[in-house]
Amino acid sequence: MLELKNISKNFGGLKALHGISFSIQQGEFVGLIGPNGSGKTTLFNIISGQLKATSGRIVYNGKDITALRPDRICKSGIARTFQIPRPFKGMTVDENIVTAVLFGDGDDVTGESELLRKAEYYKELVGLDVNSATMPVELTAVDLRRLELARALATQPKLLLMDECMSGFNPEEISRAALMLKKIHEDMGITIIWVEHVMAALMNHVQRVVVLEYGELIAEGTPSEIAQDERVVEAYFGEKHVLGDA
Ligand SMILES: Nc1ncnc2c1ncn2[C@@H]1O[C@H](COP(=O)(O)OP(=O)(O)OP(=O)(O)O)[C@@H](O)[C@H]1O
Ligand SMILES: [Mg+2]
Repeated sequence: MLELKNISKNFGGLKALHGISFSIQQGEFVGLIGPNGSGKTTLFNIISGQLKATSGRIVYNGKDITALRPDRICKSGIARTFQIPRPFKGMTVDENIVTAVLFGDGDDVTGESELLRKAEYYKELVGLDVNSATMPVELTAVDLRRLELARALATQPKLLLMDECMSGFNPEEISRAALMLKKIHEDMGITIIWVEHVMAALMNHVQRVVVLEYGELIAEGTPSEIAQDERVVEAYFGEKHVLGDA
């Protein structure tokens, strides 16, 4: 479904990504992990078109999307959430979701009442329990992350890139969110690449893990293989911030 071919990204003299190659099959649920600054968000920015790679190619369903604009990439079925939520601040929560619905599926929507029903549907799906006139500024940090996910899902993606959607969640919120992700993956059939510092949740739910360190891919495998990989343990699990800095 998605093929990254030798992706590199330089910011001036800094090599944020160096020769990253891996593939994602349709229907997979993949975790992307690595210490702070290892290049996870940069890779999402490149896949979703916010940043252009210095070199390398991205192929999505057989089509080269390396040079496409972000809106075209989203239209083709790749949605992402931002690590720092980016709602339209002048719009209500419902309007934010409706905008995403219209962007993703606008042609099929017949009227305003259907749009509002869809907004309710996505709010319920992600556990965002606020009324329709609520403004983003009124949301808690946790609810802002839920809105971020609702907007991404409302574009009806085939591939969802999630950048730390559970930061700041308490253990109960994490287990609820993990169940929701399972539903998104299994029932809605959405392929997911998930970046998360909440290790236990990620390792319990993903089928495969890709590990970055200093912009390089250092390991790839099942959660149990990755948990025993010496280089990963050293790079990642050995650092005390991993479990605490969620
Ligand atoms: N727009 C930019 N301009 C310059 N440097 C950048 C830019 N974006 C990222 N970087 C640098 O690239 C490196 C990778 O950053 P990135 O945000 O991708 O890491 P990350 O793995 O997402 O980290 P975290 O876990 O903290 O979110 C870091 O050294 C960062 O400072
Ligand atoms: Mg990041």
